[in-house]
Amino acid sequence: MSVVTIATTPFNDQRPGTSGLRKKVAVFQQAHYLENFVQSTFDSLDNIQGQTLVVGGDGRFYNEQAIQIILKMAAANGFSHAIVGQNGLLSTPAASCVIRKYKAFGGIILSASHNPAGPNGDFGIKYNINNGGPAPEAITEAIFKNSQSITEYRIVDESDVNLAIIGRQQLANMSIDIIDPVGDYAELMADLFDFESIKTLVSSQSFQMRFDAMHAITGPYAKTILEDLLGAPTGTVINGIPLTDFGGGHPDPNLTYAEQLVAEMFSSNPPVFGAASDGDGDRNMILGANFFVTPSDSLAILAANAHLVPAYQSGLSGIARSMPTSQAPDRVAQKLGIDCHETPTGWKFFGNLLDANKATLCGEESFGTGSNHIREKDGLWAVLFWLNILAKRQLSVAQIVELHWQEYGRNYYTRHDYEAISSDIAKQLMSDLEAQLPSLVGQQLAGRTVAYADNFSYKDPVDNSVSSNQGLRIGFDDGARIVVRLSGTGTEGATLRVYIERYENDKSKLDQDTQKALKPLIDLINELAQITERTGRTEPTVIT
Ligand code: G1P
Ligand code: ZN
Repeated sequence: MSVVTIATTPFNDQRPGTSGLRKKVAVFQQAHYLENFVQSTFDSLDNIQGQTLVVGGDGRFYNEQAIQIILKMAAANGFSHAIVGQNGLLSTPAASCVIRKYKAFGGIILSASHNPAGPNGDFGIKYNINNGGPAPEAITEAIFKNSQSITEYRIVDESDVNLAIIGRQQLANMSIDIIDPVGDYAELMADLFDFESIKTLVSSQSFQMRFDAMHAITGPYAKTILEDLLGAPTGTVINGIPLTDFGGGHPDPNLTYAEQLVAEMFSSNPPVFGAASDGDGDRNMILGANFFVTPSDSLAILAANAHLVPAYQSGLSGIARSMPTSQAPDRVAQKLGIDCHETPTGWKFFGNLLDANKATLCGEESFGTGSNHIREKDGLWAVLFWLNILAKRQLSVAQIVELHWQEYGRNYYTRHDYEAISSDIAKQLMSDLEAQLPSLVGQQLAGRTVAYADNFSYKDPVDNSVSSNQGLRIGFDDGARIVVRLSGTGTEGATLRVYIERYENDKSKLDQDTQKALKPLIDLINELAQITERTGRTEPTVIT
């Protein structure tokens, strides 16, 4: 075999963040940069000889070049088999599905999620373990450590693999199966949901839906599942052709970036159901006619209606949500008599809970929801879950949400993001706010009493590992909360995220404007953290 060993020196910035290593494309294009990270990853894993590796990405610029390098390095490092999506494509949930289905050793997913793509955009890489989920911190820290002392990497000197043709090929001692990126995932969805009821719903005259793939990876998945298998009319999926630069857009399914869909859903003659997914297919946004469902509410509503879905009809073992996600799911868990686990931000913390069957559904406020069917969040899965509920309940999206609030009360919730602020200013703001926290406890602020104020730390109930420094929290005696943390996925300066929530169960006050309902708390945190004074920003970059 033609293995060559190439001498290299460390890069000091290869610590994986909330979801793998994300950098500008140009950073990844530096000589040895990707190779160093891949070798550091392989060196963090035990017994990879003779194993199977899944490889795929969201199709963004540099995806195919990166896959050629990764396959050649996998062959040189002893993997005997690779499974790769055709043309290098696999949505993040599909990659998780394929790792599990074929009992692979692990997988490498190439994506920077919803971050813009193209030669001047972002690129990313992350390693997923054999349960199909993101590598836990012990592995990501080992990768970082290896990257700091790396001196060489191994690669085979062979010609490129043909990624376009489905079937088996050989690369040195490694066999490679190029697979249809959609098939296995579509099969799994058909197992979970009541496709017959959904078919009846989507083919009825009174039902019209739109799915915005935002020129990213979910186009082919949504067309196959929604249009071909479920019979939704052609044209249901918009922006369905994946482009290497996502059409110049920012494929983050929220009210700011999914402009085209939002305009249609809030028009005078809107479809009854609208949804969008992100760059790599793991996020989702759910809309009704002139109606937006917050991701936290969506998780709560999926949990409350799970008995209507074949895969979950026998009950949920528990729910898990990230700490900044609203406490709406907790109320459903309480009613169902199950636990609601609170984890740090990032999907990697759900893996142990799902594996140990301590949770069936999980979700984050950042437009991510999922279940034990895979170990990643899953955009289309959430859309199908909603369609399954709509088919069974025969109510509109707005009616389902409003009835939910009537029953459980409403958690008014918003997130304010201040993007690309100076890292030094952001760090100082955080440490000054943290220093104030102990003195806030017991104080009357914004008309309520501070019950606790701390820096969130999480002890995993399965492996007892502790993750500290996971966000500053100010909690009030009436359940209201303010959370402040810095993003771990940004690639430019720092992004400050401020999460604000309060609970309302007065039935006459359930339809207020969210920003108005939260104004006293928004003003309070702006004052405590001096956001405007320090950042010069008078408004957030994005409000969700
Ligand atoms: C963001 C979200 C987080 C999500 C992650 C990956 O991370 O807030 O919930 O898991 O993207 O999609 P952050 O940039 O806040 O670290
Ligand atoms: Zn994503």
